[in-house]
Amino acid sequence: MAASIWKTCQVCLCRSIQYSSRVGPITRTISSQNASISHLLRRDPKEMCDTVVAKGWIKSVREQKHVMFLSLHDGSCIDSLQIVAKEHVCTDGIAFGCSVEVRGHLIPSKSKGQKVELSAEEIKVIGPCDNEIYPLKARTRHSADYTRQIPHLRSRTNTFSSLLRIRNSATQAVHAFFQEAGFLQVDTPIITSNDCEGAGETFTVQPANPVVLEDVEKNSNDKSGLFFNVPAFLTVSGQLHLEIVASSHQKVYTLGPTFRAENSSSRRHLSEFYMLEVEEAFADSVEDIMKLTEDCVKSVTHKVCNQSQDDVELFHKHVSPGHKDVIDKLLGKPFTVLSYTDAINILEKHRKQFEFDPKWGCDLLKEHEKFLVSHCDNIPVFVVDYPADIKPFYAKSNDDPSTVAAVDLLVPDVGELVGGTVREDRLDILQQRLDDLKLTDSYQWYLDLRRFGNVPHSGFGLGFERYLQFLLGVEHIRDVIPFPRYAHSCLL
Ligand code: 4AD
Repeated sequence: MAASIWKTCQVCLCRSIQYSSRVGPITRTISSQNASISHLLRRDPKEMCDTVVAKGWIKSVREQKHVMFLSLHDGSCIDSLQIVAKEHVCTDGIAFGCSVEVRGHLIPSKSKGQKVELSAEEIKVIGPCDNEIYPLKARTRHSADYTRQIPHLRSRTNTFSSLLRIRNSATQAVHAFFQEAGFLQVDTPIITSNDCEGAGETFTVQPANPVVLEDVEKNSNDKSGLFFNVPAFLTVSGQLHLEIVASSHQKVYTLGPTFRAENSSSRRHLSEFYMLEVEEAFADSVEDIMKLTEDCVKSVTHKVCNQSQDDVELFHKHVSPGHKDVIDKLLGKPFTVLSYTDAINILEKHRKQFEFDPKWGCDLLKEHEKFLVSHCDNIPVFVVDYPADIKPFYAKSNDDPSTVAAVDLLVPDVGELVGGTVREDRLDILQQRLDDLKLTDSYQWYLDLRRFGNVPHSGFGLGFERYLQFLLGVEHIRDVIPFPRYAHSCLL
């Protein structure tokens, strides 16, 4: 801890600790010995006379008579550093996939597409790689289906390496957007005793070891056989906890893991996914939710496309050709708004195109969502005012009580990206709903938020993987998360 001294306030004579300012900002200095490839590739050719050390994994090996060309990758950027090893440098054991430490001089490169290259003086093989049995092959674009089966090696492929940098950049952009807008980041719990969405899609949390349970019961009057005395689950949404903090801090958000026990093998469902959840006190209309959602999606998209341009381009060129136009359109045009009732009317007119009939009172299916977006010129569409019966208990009733102030955002290819509602803030109505659902006892704390210092408020949740799927045009949600979990699969 920094040294401190007591400081006395000259007004009320209270004492507080003043922390020493002797310690300046602590930053990690980048030297020639620990620079990343991204850093080395940006070095100014004029200051390239010192010895540098580059570390990473070999992406390709090209041998000529008196010289060997290697490309070295370390995950810091999409590009590799070209290593030139002349005859005097020992290259024994160098192969695709092995890890190496290279010492040498950065020099201007004569090859196309790179300003600098590393003229090697010494190459140390740190971890060899037997190409006969290595599941990845040099200069091969492995299919997503294949690399999904080897999650421990998937991050070494070009596409997944780009994905990881884009995910990082999108996370940063989300935080930047909400921090700049004055929102407080809140860590909502992963283990919870509520099923926020009330859909029964929870995973139960209990100790795996029965001895632990016996031990817990021994020292307690509670004989429920439950570790926490109450049923506990992995969270399906942090919304209710955010509502608590919004009722004291007004604007809050979280970006964290969320769990749903759905038996779905669809291309847009996971058992564990990340959700951006936002809650704002005094924001009392679906218009407020739509404005914030649209600003957030556009700002994050703009930032990621700029900050991770090369990585995003890799997807838009090789994975989803033509998808850049969809993103440009999103950035350039205002999102469309449709009421749920209008949406159903549109769908009913085209009923023959669907496998399942659209029907007022039922959830929109993926085929309906896709149709609505293409009907609106492939611009994201907000659908508002859903039937009360298909939305959770916390959604606020409209003047017409058959609908609630709920909004979903539908985007091209993916369908539903965001779900939000104005929260029911009228104590009597909320109480009645909880009574009907026989939940009143466990939700007294939620009712307290309406009893004491109540405010109108609203919020939304955005599926982070669905966002990445949409941004990059990735077909399968399992390919935008490092370690996908879904029914029948929990690899590693
Ligand atoms: O519409 P949902 O269920 O909304 C909520 O959970 C609210 N409590 C959020 C809030 O208001 N704070 O989920 C929000 C979003 C969906 O629109 C979808 O993008 C994503 O989360 N999502 C999933 N993503 C991947 N796999 C799943 N199984 C998902 N379920 C929902």
